[in-house]
Amino acid sequence: MNILMVCLGNICRSPLAEGILQSKAPTGMKIDSAGTSNWHVGKSPDKRSIAVAKQHGIDISNQKARQFQSEDFSNFDVIFVMDQSNYADVLALAKNEVEKSKVRLILGNYQEVPDPYYGGEDGFEAVYQMLDEATDQFLQSLSS
Ligand code: 4NP
Repeated sequence: MNILMVCLGNICRSPLAEGILQSKAPTGMKIDSAGTSNWHVGKSPDKRSIAVAKQHGIDISNQKARQFQSEDFSNFDVIFVMDQSNYADVLALAKNEVEKSKVRLILGNYQEVPDPYYGGEDGFEAVYQMLDEATDQFLQSLSS
């Protein structure tokens, strides 16, 4: 099973989501992340995301940002987005109902992982906690 985590910049939220799910995923699950924008392509995750991951024993420092592309609909089984804006941007690129059906808000309908980019460090810890919980629930949903 291949899982893609998507946010706007692919430097704050989705790199954390990728690293957290990777840290507890069953072998054989492939996990990647991407941004809807091309703003930070090739860059490492935000220092604050690297730091909060490290505090929880996860190393995301080797990730590099890339932009979401339409081929991702074929390469991944589930595409998790962080907020409504990501959801709209990704859905707009879907070519059919099968592709659309792969896109899910990671916290569930109507809930968003807030963009921590312009806030303080505590915003990154809050994002970490939301993603830790959401990835637990996702893995549980697969096994039940
Ligand atoms: P992300 O956060 O979507 O979680 O990676 C952001 C990173 C950068 C910007 C916005 C959000 N930006 O405006 O550059």
